[in-house]
Amino acid sequence: MNINWYPGHMKKTRESIKKSLTMVDVVFELIDARIPFSSQNPEIDSIVGNKPRVIILNKSDLASGYGNKLWQDYFNTKGISSVVVDAINNKGLDQLINLSYKVTEEKRKSYEKRGVINRPIRAMILGIPNVGKSTLINSLSGRKGAKTGNRPGVTKSNQWIKTKGNLELLDTPGILWPKFEDKEVGLNLAFTGAIKDEILDIETLAFKLIERLISISPHLIENRYGINTQNKSTLNIMIEIGQKRGCIIRGGEVDFTKVSNILLDEFRKGVIGDITLEFPKE
Ligand code: G4P
Repeated sequence: MNINWYPGHMKKTRESIKKSLTMVDVVFELIDARIPFSSQNPEIDSIVGNKPRVIILNKSDLASGYGNKLWQDYFNTKGISSVVVDAINNKGLDQLINLSYKVTEEKRKSYEKRGVINRPIRAMILGIPNVGKSTLINSLSGRKGAKTGNRPGVTKSNQWIKTKGNLELLDTPGILWPKFEDKEVGLNLAFTGAIKDEILDIETLAFKLIERLISISPHLIENRYGINTQNKSTLNIMIEIGQKRGCIIRGGEVDFTKVSNILLDEFRKGVIGDITLEFPKE
């Protein structure tokens, strides 16, 4: 899903999300475990304010175990609770529910003092497009197929979805805008498919992906495509992958568009490996 964000959209989104936040006890902030920094909304801290928050490192199945651990430690040191989730395979959901109880303890106790027992914890999901918001709603609630509407912000229906663990989720997540300015962030979002091949043509994007993967570990490309990358230019690596995969056009030349599509598709599906693309800077 792609949304063009304009200042007016952002203002409206910010306002409608702030309004919805008054109805919930906790915010589930969804980010992509492969690119936790790049997939965070730039204004998230001021939007969420003092509301209890749990950061969900989703798509953890596509990121490295080492990276997941480092990011959790990083958020811990910042005093923000975080949990590693794979929303497709329902992994990490129990920890998420436990954390929801932990971060809302104060409020729950004050309700209990007033005699309100077993009040469900109300939560709202926030995140940029494509981080897995609909998937998480479906896996928490056990329902199938609901997709977020492709409108910024939240819709006005405000229905609550009951989930396991006595949570109630706002039915429509808050869709936030991504970071735009930083070139590196733009690349990360494009590699993971969060923005769909719109900032660069697909061949340049695949080119940059090869460079990035080689810088992480040459073995990733070497093992997947059965080639040697040592002392080879990115162009030559791309040509060899094309030859290996039979991406040849008339005259024996490599079809770069085809190779690029294969590379990006395989990276996004995690077939090249479980790869974290960025690590905490502090
Ligand atoms: P959104 O509401 O935040 O926009 O995201 P959505 O749930 O639609 O998920 C976006 C894509 O990410 C979907 O792939 C979904 O299956 C995938 N996804 C969500 N959570 C996880 C996860 O924990 N692990 C993995 N591996 N994938 C996850 P898609 O249907 O192929 O959509 P698209 O990528 O073609 O847009």
